Amino acid sequence: MTTLNRSALPDSARTNGATPNPWWANAVVYQIYPRSFQDSNGDGIGDLKGITSRLDYIADLGVDVIWLSPVYQSPQDDNGYDISDYQAIDPIFGTMADMDELLEQAHARGIKVIMDLVVNHTSDEHAWFQESRDPDSDKADWYWWRPAREGKTPGEPGAEPNQWGSYFGGSAWQYDEQRGEYFLHQYSKKQPDLNWENPAVRKAVYDMMNWWMDRGIDGFRMDVITQISKVVDADGHLPGEPGGAIDDYPAGEEGYSSPYPFCSDGPRIDEFLKEMRREVFEKRGGYMNVGEAPGVDAVRNEFITDPANKELDMLFLFDHVGIDQGDSKWDIVKFDVRHLREQLKAQQEAVHDRGWASLFTCNHDQPRVVTRWGDDTSEEMRARSAKAFGMLVHLHRGTPYVYQGEELGMTGAHFTKLDQYRDLESINAYRQRVEEAKVQSKESMMEALALFGRDNARTPMQWDGSKYAGFMAADAKGEPWISVNPNHVEINAAAQFDDPDSVYSFYKRLVNLRHNSALVAAGAWELVDDDDEKVYAFTRTLGDDRMLVVLNLSGKHAELPKSVERLLERGAHAVREEDIVLSTIDAIHSAKALENGELAAWEGVVVQL
Ligand code: GLC
Ligand code: CA
Repeated sequence: MTTLNRSALPDSARTNGATPNPWWANAVVYQIYPRSFQDSNGDGIGDLKGITSRLDYIADLGVDVIWLSPVYQSPQDDNGYDISDYQAIDPIFGTMADMDELLEQAHARGIKVIMDLVVNHTSDEHAWFQESRDPDSDKADWYWWRPAREGKTPGEPGAEPNQWGSYFGGSAWQYDEQRGEYFLHQYSKKQPDLNWENPAVRKAVYDMMNWWMDRGIDGFRMDVITQISKVVDADGHLPGEPGGAIDDYPAGEEGYSSPYPFCSDGPRIDEFLKEMRREVFEKRGGYMNVGEAPGVDAVRNEFITDPANKELDMLFLFDHVGIDQGDSKWDIVKFDVRHLREQLKAQQEAVHDRGWASLFTCNHDQPRVVTRWGDDTSEEMRARSAKAFGMLVHLHRGTPYVYQGEELGMTGAHFTKLDQYRDLESINAYRQRVEEAKVQSKESMMEALALFGRDNARTPMQWDGSKYAGFMAADAKGEPWISVNPNHVEINAAAQFDDPDSVYSFYKRLVNLRHNSALVAAGAWELVDDDDEKVYAFTRTLGDDRMLVVLNLSGKHAELPKSVERLLERGAHAVREEDIVLSTIDAIHSAKALENGELAAWEGVVVQL
């Protein structure tokens, strides 16, 4: 396999003539959810000092970049995604000095740090919003304020400016007594949407971003950034507002309609992203930006991430993690590898020539893949299916993301009672769907929460087998803010660190491959088989160098699809052990399996062709 000089991809691997060799083309990003990573002072909430104390672990894993979920000052309505001061650290996480120390220590280990940027909305406790509540203030127009419907009593049901519902339940409009008007919030009522139509808002955001970049961070993960531009008519009406250009449209089963079609990938998004790039990044180097992009499809991804268009380096698309959900997030649809393949294929093919992909299955909003799509009911299958999904993510073309604990094969929380959940989305959805609208039974909702609830990804990091999993001191006075998964006794970093067969060691090999193989970092991606119900197979090609990745994404024995067999039979020799680059079982087993035309449950193999 071609080895790679970290700083220079071969010409054939360039994504686009416009920006050759972006450093993040062979980087791996590690996401930290600070609240759940490492507590340093026994209050049960992870913090910055805790993260700094674990940097050697992150360096050992070999990743290049840390994405830090929000640590800014916040009332913590949505665990920090509701920011009340962008230029202050929330005391629960530490101080600005702790942040500087984390940056310095990470950089000393060659690890970059990108921060979450949450600018679709602020907290309602942000000074900007507080000022905006006064219609005479110069920030009066910084948020989406609208009067109550004519003839209706403000604050009463039906008086809202339109029928939009919030993604976190209830109306997307909240009445403010002081201003005597409603404000828009796509998320919780403590997360009012900023009005990006107003140039003063944009300037304030760019100033803040420049302030952080100057402080030494290496870029941003931009929260729901593709929702900042909304459809407005020439007179400033939002869709569904009385007198506006777009009429009312029918409400869904819970009495609301989604703002999604009008607020995702909206009319001015390209303009805003280009402006941001110009105002903050154009004069800088060495950074990376990734935008969270619900509602953006593979084709638009190509445009936004094409370096020639000067918008963002990459986006998180979500179609592939929605394959097991129905019309509502809380409808369970059985995992089907054909649907996953269809989505990933669309994403990969769209950026074949231009643009770039981000690769992930897990984050702080998405439940643990090993429980969601894999099998965590036995130790052997848990480890093997965790490796299989790791192989799937890391061997595609793009930049892979590892969510804290994924590298250990951490599982879902397996909560059975509502009071074990902390996430406002889960709690609101339960109230609304089970108690108010009565569209889902208690049993079925609890099942959906156990599968899709965001807290599944938010239980404390499992460092060791001690009482609180090493997340906090076993003799601390406080308790973890959310309960530790009891399986930390078996599944933890200490147990896996030196074990060459562990999920952790497997992830280290995946990271290593991306660093050292130009083929993995940049080779063209091509699907081998289009319709098998268990086996997902693709090749990567760079010049004469070629590898096959073949994965049985099922818990049952599988036959190799004919197209895979044909690829393997191309040489005169049988599949040799030394051709196996990586296996979720071991090279001897996988060489034999391929020769016999089969794969064991969750067996994944990378073969040098
Ligand atoms: C993003 C974040 C999520 C948050 C939401 C609102 O989707 O990842 O955690 O709740 O935006 O900020
Ligand atoms: Ca703490």
